[in-house]
Amino acid sequence: MRHDRPSDTARFVLNGIHWVSQHPRLGSEVPRDLARYTDEMVRCVEWGGKAKVSWIDRRISRLKAGLMQAVSIPGIYLYQVMRKRYIESVARSHVLPNVSQLIVLGAGFDTLSLRIGSSRVGMTVIEVDHPASRAAKLEAIGRFNFSTGPCVFVDSDIDRDGIAESLARCPEYDPNAPTLFVAEGLTMYLQESRVRDLFEFVSGGSSESRILFTYMEEGPDGSWDFREQGALATRWLAFKNECFTWGAKRQAIAGILAQCGLDLVEERTAEDLRSDLLSPENRDVRIAHGENTVLARPAG
Ligand SMILES: C[S@@+](CC[C@H](N)C(=O)[O-])C[C@H]1O[C@@H](n2cnc3c(N)ncnc32)[C@H](O)[C@@H]1O
Repeated sequence: MRHDRPSDTARFVLNGIHWVSQHPRLGSEVPRDLARYTDEMVRCVEWGGKAKVSWIDRRISRLKAGLMQAVSIPGIYLYQVMRKRYIESVARSHVLPNVSQLIVLGAGFDTLSLRIGSSRVGMTVIEVDHPASRAAKLEAIGRFNFSTGPCVFVDSDIDRDGIAESLARCPEYDPNAPTLFVAEGLTMYLQESRVRDLFEFVSGGSSESRILFTYMEEGPDGSWDFREQGALATRWLAFKNECFTWGAKRQAIAGILAQCGLDLVEERTAEDLRSDLLSPENRDVRIAHGENTVLARPAG
């Protein structure tokens, strides 16, 4: 990604979640807290923290987000909502009760760590992101009207520094603590060696640690794009210097994890998320395909 400005794909995800939350039919698919915090983040990121945003400005921004989805990856926004819901539900129900540290990598403008940090007393919450994205998020949080918890923000280009070095610079990080690592929408921007480093890093820690991550599934043509991705989106990602650099065949992912000392616990495709999470009245709505979400744990 470009080093001089925050990630454009992080803004794309933020505005997409917001778009779904405001949609007359799909809005009910976004849990209340995610919708509230996303709305606040949009106010702080897109509107400079303005106390009142006019109806017409909101309407124009919704239209722009809708158009952006139509010409880039149809169905991407609802898919991203489902990915977030799955990650949060696994985190809250199965993992967080057994860990004392949450580390969100490539967090962008996501609000999970802010919400968890403000509701789970005693949990160490750390976000690691590219310096330009982290600076924009910190600026936004400075304008926030909601509680954001005691989240620690670490600057790092993970591709350049590696995960171990990034966290070594963070005094709050405890290498022995059982930890949930979240890498949502990140691995596709790293080199394979860095993705493997990350998996090995998790497997070398506490046996109670877990990682929830997403990856692009390699298509039959060898590409790592979303199946619905148009040429315009590919050109936009290249222009923003946020092209996908890593993906894997679905059959290969458990093997890659095993080579790095992790067991795959569960994996969800977009279609799994549709049938598990979408309410019956929205089951037929278009969603994007190509990215899968995995929960993994140290082997043993
Ligand atoms: C598609 S956004 C996803 C944001 C967030 N995880 C979400 O799902 O809403 C990608 C994020 O990865 C971060 N990122 C990309 N390459 C990175 C790198 N080399 N080091 C650290 N962060 C990186 C970007 O800054 C951005 O926040």
